[in-house]
Amino acid sequence: MTLIFRQLFDPISSTYTYLLACGRTKEAVLIDPVFEQVRRDSALIKELGLKLLYTLDTHVHADHVTAAWLLKQRLGSTIALGADTKAVNADRLLKAGEKVEFGDYHVEVRSTPGHTNDSLTYVLGDKSMAFTGDALLIRGCGRTDFQQGSGHALYNSIHTQIFTLPDECLLYPAHDYRGLTVTSVAEEKRFNPRLGDDISEGDFVGYMNNLNLPHPKQIDVAVPANLKCGKPEGDGAMKDPDWAPLNLTFAGIWEIAPNWVEEHGPAVQILDVREKEEFEGPLGHVAGAKLIPLGELLKRTDEISKDRPIVTVCRSGARSAQATVILQKAGFDKVANLAGGMLRWRAAHYPAEGGAS
Ligand code: FE2
Repeated sequence: MTLIFRQLFDPISSTYTYLLACGRTKEAVLIDPVFEQVRRDSALIKELGLKLLYTLDTHVHADHVTAAWLLKQRLGSTIALGADTKAVNADRLLKAGEKVEFGDYHVEVRSTPGHTNDSLTYVLGDKSMAFTGDALLIRGCGRTDFQQGSGHALYNSIHTQIFTLPDECLLYPAHDYRGLTVTSVAEEKRFNPRLGDDISEGDFVGYMNNLNLPHPKQIDVAVPANLKCGKPEGDGAMKDPDWAPLNLTFAGIWEIAPNWVEEHGPAVQILDVREKEEFEGPLGHVAGAKLIPLGELLKRTDEISKDRPIVTVCRSGARSAQATVILQKAGFDKVANLAGGMLRWRAAHYPAEGGAS
């Protein structure tokens, strides 16, 4: 049995999202997912063959909107949050000491208020990792000046709930603004400049009360949205392209299935980006395909019409993936890559012009 673990980053809000899954059952949980990253996270979950059981927010965030609600719509996951939250739309409210199971693994819920009153820390069953949200950051901690924050509560939470974990326990925060990715209990106990070593509660509260931080940029948008677990207003949901059933890969490429292209041929333009010899070679080409080799695409985009969506094709789907990137940069918004290229097309016995039969 192995644990699948991924640390994902949202560069706009500097948020870390953590994917944890059981290698045997493929059941997964996602800690602190970000609204704008819902497609990326869904693609990774799909490519790894995982079943998302839960989204676990560490608290009602003030700096980004959670993807909990969107992921529930897409993947059927359960929305879980701390029991002290005021948010609506949560499916499970977690109390201290509860376990959230995924396959052979679980995380234990610890209540760590102080940054907000609903803040949780999730501790992996064997106490080798903990996800501290904005309670403890790497050589720092979450601010305590809004959302029922309290320096006294945070000091107590960190000392009784996080610093009591084994020294070697790895700590993963919800944010880092310098790109630092992980720390440990031993390190923070010694070197955290707000909380480490001999720093007393009075020292800590004095420090926190004099941070003089600006009002967070996103708070007026993020908090109301997160109080609904990220359910968008009316039509505010992120819309996927609707001209065909497309799949976004974790690599960021929109793909289209060969069978759809076969059935809907005339609705799209087929753009083959191989070399001329290959286009006329043994694999043949899709009927009606236009040939522009990848190396010439950038300077020949004016030969392509914008009246119909474009499906790019090459031998295996690699060069045509790059073609979608070039076309999108050139202002074409309905573009997708033929998954598996001519190899898969021919393997499925779809018709081709030219080539060997
Ligand atoms: Fe926060």
